[in-house]
Amino acid sequence: MAASAATRVSLLLGLAVLSALASPSHSLDCASQKFSNKKVFSNCSDLPKLGARLHYTYDASNSSLSIAFTAAPAAGGAWVAYAINPTSTGMVGSQALMALKLANGSVFAKTYNIMGYHSIVESKLSFEVWDLTAEASNDAMTIFASLKVPEKATSLNQVWQVGGAVIGNRPSIHPLETENRASMSQLTLAASSSPAPAPSGHSAAVPAFQRGSLAAVLGLALLVGSAILS
Ligand SMILES: *[C@@H]1O[C@H](CO)[C@@H](O)[C@H](O)[C@H]1NC(C)=O
Ligand SMILES: *[C@@H]1O[C@H](CO)[C@@H](O)[C@H](O)[C@H]1NC(C)=O
Ligand SMILES: *[C@@H]1O[C@H](CO)[C@@H](O)[C@H](O)[C@H]1NC(C)=O
Repeated sequence: MAASAATRVSLLLGLAVLSALASPSHSLDCASQKFSNKKVFSNCSDLPKLGARLHYTYDASNSSLSIAFTAAPAAGGAWVAYAINPTSTGMVGSQALMALKLANGSVFAKTYNIMGYHSIVESKLSFEVWDLTAEASNDAMTIFASLKVPEKATSLNQVWQVGGAVIGNRPSIHPLETENRASMSQLTLAASSSPAPAPSGHSAAVPAFQRGSLAAVLGLALLVGSAILS
C-alpha cells in the first residue's frame, strides 16, 4: 500500500488539474437564500472561497451548533463537504459532513473521519451529530446538521470543499484550483471580549494558513483517491 502512495498522488493531481479546468465559479449569497424545509438560522456567512455559504445558529447554553452549508459542486461533480477540524487547521483530522448525489438522483448525507492523507473513513465523527440531512437543487447542494461543539469554544476551524463525481456511492477527487486550496477559515462562535486585533494580525497569519491549505488539499486528494482506488 505505502509503495503506491507516490503514484497515487501524481495520478490524483493529474485528475484534479483536468477537472479543475472545467470548473465554473458559482456565486451564492447569504441574503437571498430561503430553505424549502423552512429552517431558520440566526447567522449567515458567505464563506470566502468556492461561492459557499454557511447559515448557522450557535446555542451556547448546550454547546450546540446548527448549520446549513450550501455550495455548488464542481462542474460535472456531485458532492459538497463541510468539515470541522477539532485539532488543527488542515484537512487531516477534520470531521466532515458530506452531501452526495448518486447517479440515480438520490441525495445522501454522510459523515467521514478524515484520519490522514490516505484515509477517509465513513464513520461517526469525534463529536455528536444529529438531524443530518442533505438536499440538492439544480445548481447547489445543502447539508443540514446539528453538532456538539466543545464547551466554551469561541471559534472553530472550518474546512469546506466542492467535489467531483460520485462513483457508486463514493466521492471522487475535487479540483485543486486556488479556491479549492484555500477553502478554510475560522468560524467565530462568540465575540471575544478583548480588543479587535489590528489589521496586521491578518498578514502575520498567512504563512501558517498557507501551510494548512496545502496540507488540506493533499489530504483531501489522497483520501478521496483512496476511496476511488480501494
Ligand atoms: C440545544 O438547544 C437547542 C435549542 O434549544 C435544541 O434544539 C437542541 O436540541 C439542544 N441540543 C442538545 C444536544 O441538547
Ligand atoms: C439509489 O441508490 C441508492 C443506493 O443503492 C438507494 O439506496 C436508493 O434508494 C436509490 N434511489 C432510487 C430513487 O432508486
Ligand atoms: C449572530 O448574529 C447576531 C445578531 O446580528 C450577533 O449579535 C451575534 O454576535 C452573531 N453570532 C455569531 C456567532 O456570529
